[in-house]
Amino acid sequence: MKTYGCQMNVYDSQRMSDALAADGYQPTEAIEDADLVLFNTCHIREKAAEKVYSEIGRVRKLKDARARQGRETLVGIAGCVAQAEGREMIRRAPTVDFVIGPQTYHRLPDAVARARAGEKVIATDYPEESKFEHLPHAPRAVQTKRGVAAFLTVQEGCDKFCTFCVVPYTRGSETSRPVRQIVAEAERLAAAGVRELTLLGQNVNGWHGEGPDGREWGLGELLYRLAEVPGIARLRYTTSHPRDMDDALIAAHRDLPALMPYLHLPVQSGSDPILKAMNRRHKASDYLRLIDRIRAARSDIALSGDFIVGFPGETEADFQATLDLIAQVGYAQAFSFKYSPRPGTPGAELGDHVEEAVKDERLQRLQALVNSQQAAFNQGLVGRTIDLLIEKPGRRPDQKVGRSPWLQPVVIDAHLGEIGDLRTVRVTGTGFNTLMAEAA
Ligand code: 5AD
Ligand code: SF4
Repeated sequence: MKTYGCQMNVYDSQRMSDALAADGYQPTEAIEDADLVLFNTCHIREKAAEKVYSEIGRVRKLKDARARQGRETLVGIAGCVAQAEGREMIRRAPTVDFVIGPQTYHRLPDAVARARAGEKVIATDYPEESKFEHLPHAPRAVQTKRGVAAFLTVQEGCDKFCTFCVVPYTRGSETSRPVRQIVAEAERLAAAGVRELTLLGQNVNGWHGEGPDGREWGLGELLYRLAEVPGIARLRYTTSHPRDMDDALIAAHRDLPALMPYLHLPVQSGSDPILKAMNRRHKASDYLRLIDRIRAARSDIALSGDFIVGFPGETEADFQATLDLIAQVGYAQAFSFKYSPRPGTPGAELGDHVEEAVKDERLQRLQALVNSQQAAFNQGLVGRTIDLLIEKPGRRPDQKVGRSPWLQPVVIDAHLGEIGDLRTVRVTGTGFNTLMAEAA
């Protein structure tokens, strides 16, 4: 199993591993040994999608070599490239035995069985209602390891249709998982030793559902409920859309100590004409006002964002407006990309393309600014005491690595605690995105 792309794919790969483990498959690091090779793919930008085709080229040679030794190799493509191009893929690449889309993973064991019997399987069409029929939970013994911090998908899909984005086409329309299922999975994870949960969704803060009290809940209400799950000490959620940040969710940031003070809230651009062309349906000033409200609720909240440079029609003044917004907000972390036209999206039909060299130059300027903000944020923590969750052994045997409330890895002395412990420590220094700390 090889996973590309977002955290949702990481989560899906774990669930697929669990399901395949129930059929007797075990993960391997050595691809030459694999009887089944499954790529969980990403379609978000052209570069990500292209990787699949080079993987298929490589695996074809492997498959031929194994066939000469009389060993069969099944090759499956899962994820968003499978959803978008699966049909075409299986026609063009005879190496591929089955393709399975993100809404169809509950049919994975069946797809593998049929492929084994020699059928070319295309499992990418999905009835809306089956989206959260996800894979059955594997018995504990065959569950792949989760560690002390785990993902939990609560929402999938997107109805926002930003003009640059393939997600509404590959992940389908916005669907929320029922409260009961989410709480049950949280309890199961907590019982397996998980202390920190990150709720996942393409529009996670658009999550809604009927609460046990019979009222309509939003993500805010769900977080209050999950904070009560015994053993769960920390909560996070990603990715959010500015239009779905409601009052209850902002109040949860004020009221819940377990809700970590870190929010990924992409804005993409600081220019109103570009935001309009992107169909973001908010202005730069709406976003800034929202940030003020969130900071009023939780003053130590750190923000991170996503930015696209070189969207069609972006002028130097538009780009400058993005830099101005970044300067006003002050990000602890940011992810930035050159615009990549995606087939089937409205953006791909727009003229007035920005030259590649200009995109490169803008990306560099933007990244220089956010990198300096990130360095300043981390530097500001030196000398302060912070909480951390110890997550794993360090690179050296006398070290362990924990995670700060703001997601930085924190290197500490191994004897400060065991994996899964929460500790208060004093920050002594920083790397680009790591902190060093000692006993407080
Ligand atoms: N080109 C460049 N970046 C994109 N993103 C989404 N679609 C594209 C595209 N076509 C970025 C957005 C989004 C992040 C996950 O990827 O910034 O928030
Ligand atoms: Fe894509 Fe926009 Fe939906 Fe995010 S909100 S997944 S960027 S269409």
